[in-house]
Amino acid sequence: MPNIPLRDGGPKARVAVIPGDGIGREVTPVAIQVIRAATARRNRPLEFVEFDWGADKYLRENISLPEGAVELLRDEFDAILFGALGDPRIPSNQHAADILLGLRFKLDLYVNARPTELLHPRLTPLRDRNLAEINLMVFRENTEGLYVGIGGFFKKDTPDEIAVQEDVNSRKGVERIIRHAFDFARTHSRSSAGLPRALKGFQPASGGSHKPLRVCMSDKSNAMTFAHDLWQRVFQSVRAEYREIDSRHLYIDTLAMELVRDPSQFDVIVTCNLFGDIISDLAAQLAGGLGLAPSANIHPGRTSLFEPVHGSAPNIAGKGIANPFGAVLASGMLLEFLGWNEESYVLKQSVKSALHENVTTPDLGGSNRTLEVADFLTNYASMHS
Ligand code: NAD
Ligand code: IPM
Ligand code: MN
Repeated sequence: MPNIPLRDGGPKARVAVIPGDGIGREVTPVAIQVIRAATARRNRPLEFVEFDWGADKYLRENISLPEGAVELLRDEFDAILFGALGDPRIPSNQHAADILLGLRFKLDLYVNARPTELLHPRLTPLRDRNLAEINLMVFRENTEGLYVGIGGFFKKDTPDEIAVQEDVNSRKGVERIIRHAFDFARTHSRSSAGLPRALKGFQPASGGSHKPLRVCMSDKSNAMTFAHDLWQRVFQSVRAEYREIDSRHLYIDTLAMELVRDPSQFDVIVTCNLFGDIISDLAAQLAGGLGLAPSANIHPGRTSLFEPVHGSAPNIAGKGIANPFGAVLASGMLLEFLGWNEESYVLKQSVKSALHENVTTPDLGGSNRTLEVADFLTNYASMHS
């Protein structure tokens, strides 16, 4: 390919698109349409190249992540826009493991950033919570833990069967995600209005009288006495370098409880791969559910992957009612990663406006179809870019 990717505010960008399976194929085109509308007026040259990796290709050709895919994405794209993977015809989920986990591991996307921001008060199932009280970031370790796929069966399919799944935690891996959380807290802050501005699109604190964000590291070191003992020791040594940051530890079971009891006590949560997967769904529901939860899989400075938190939702796939907000907000994170903050802001505002006008899919209590919501978002983005 002729062009070299240009990151960090460069004039142009090339984005690989992997819609995947199920509703991934319904929400990803919406996200592209809204990105195009938001970038049109400033004439941002943005190239999308679509890849058909997913269940159909896997079943047809027995190919999940094609050979050379990782190098292609790494060397010739700035970012990846990803839909979802998962298909009832593939109960092993092998293609999703190969493609999604494969890309997270092989591109070394060690930061899985999953923000939860309440965008409209009616969306939270909690009583009497305002917007400022539900605004937090989960940093999920994304390249190791129980996800590495090391393990096996012994005496499979017999009454004496044993299954082993290894939990892999390296000092380097634990340290870089904890350090990322502290760096984020140090460089982002709550505005004087009480809203963590950072989490409103990851805008850096502009200095002045801003209070740094609070960090909570969560593990299960009382039971996982080797793996999470490492997390404890690394946390203690890293936090000593960030004395100005208010930091604490909670066991993961307590964190789950505290998130529901009082989410306003959290700004930045950092945890391992599996706990981050679970706690980010819980946090998402505090702000309206999976339909509008975005995520970014990042290796700072390298080609990174942006996706809604939700899966392929086979129960509603093909019905035209999938909520595209998560994919659009993930695209906002992608634009911000490219350094295009104004366009990113427009995407978030388009979702807020749709919520305000009650233009939503049934999962949020609305009666609109995906494409009606898409039209609203696209018109908003065209008018405000
Ligand atoms: P899911 O996220 O697909 O769906 C959970 C529930 O939320 C369903 O009731 C679904 O209808 C609803 N939902 C999710 N996203 C929605 C949206 N945008 N609009 C409206 N409703 C939405 O999780 P699941 O059912 O546990 O998993 C289905 C498949 O997706 C499985 O194969 C799973 O492995 C896979 N999965 C993939 C990813 C990913 O690609 N990142 C994430 C989670 C699950
Ligand atoms: C997610 C998903 C994936 C994960 C699955 C599909 C392997 O649940 O992105 O949250 O567990 O990471
Ligand atoms: Mn998940």
